Amino acid sequence: MSDQAQRLREKLSVRSAASSSYSSKTAKTRVIAVTSGKGGVGKSNVSLNFALCLQQKGQKVVLFDMDVGFANIDVLMGISTRRNIVDLIDKRLSIWDIIERGPNDLEFVAGGSGLSQIFELDEIKLHYFFEQLTHLHGYADTIILDTSAGMSKDTLRFLLAADEVILVTTPEPTAITDAYALVKMAHSQKYDIRFNIVVNRAVGGKEGKVTGEKLVLVAREFLNLEMNMLGFIYDDVHVSKAVKKQQPFCLAYPRSKAANCIRNLTEAYLTGGKEANTEGMKGFISRLRVLWK
Ligand SMILES: Nc1ncnc2c1ncn2[C@@H]1O[C@H](COP(=O)(O)OP(=O)(O)O)[C@@H](O)[C@H]1O
Ligand SMILES: [Mg+2]
Repeated sequence: MSDQAQRLREKLSVRSAASSSYSSKTAKTRVIAVTSGKGGVGKSNVSLNFALCLQQKGQKVVLFDMDVGFANIDVLMGISTRRNIVDLIDKRLSIWDIIERGPNDLEFVAGGSGLSQIFELDEIKLHYFFEQLTHLHGYADTIILDTSAGMSKDTLRFLLAADEVILVTTPEPTAITDAYALVKMAHSQKYDIRFNIVVNRAVGGKEGKVTGEKLVLVAREFLNLEMNMLGFIYDDVHVSKAVKKQQPFCLAYPRSKAANCIRNLTEAYLTGGKEANTEGMKGFISRLRVLWK
């Protein structure tokens, strides 16, 4: 283990120990990073439809497209955005200037094609970026980050700083092994990282469950890490039909199997136990600051 990894772990564990017990009154703005080991497994569709379902349940949600090089949440909603994160930094806009509204008035922030530059910002620009993000503290109940697939150092920072991670995989062995590799890597940097597994494109409930449980068991046995199997989504032609219509599937086909699954999954998320968290968005930003050094 490198000295740097050790220091990081210590810093992060001090922070989580500092949080007191969870209470809906004090909890502010949970940050969820949605990711996958392999690309193309349904991360953006899960992020978008999960965001809409949380909103339907009365939550205030802001969805961020942080998929460097493949930002396309706007395309999934059929919206051409005017401003994005890169504009925020380059033109010194405020966070409120770049939040756009999608279907059902879902608030979202587009990534933009030059998103990779946020990882190379100088001290002043980085400070400005973080300061603007801090304004969301207490504004939203949940911030969802649709991140890049794989194990890039840049994406890893978001996973480590977030309150929890939704890990999307399909039942295909290639997706599962890539998902596990990501879990292993992230866990080596943050031993108490919270993973929620979503098995997408399952041909049936059994395949969905078995795939998720396999991942949970392997992480338990080899990493001593408890992951949460959040749910599965059927392989459903309505998803690609909705993508072609550039509408979220839970709105375009609310009675489809996939829409039913994402609602179940949202319900499971909302009823599942939440760990102590009173730092909200500010906690996320302070962890990001540490990780960025
Ligand atoms: N549950 C599903 N059933 C059928 N097709 C799906 C499902 N989820 C995703 N897809 C297909 O996979 C494609 C990629 O999904 P997307 O969410 O863009 O993946 P990612 O963000 O991981 O790259 C979609 O355009 C759709 O055609
Ligand atoms: Mg995507």
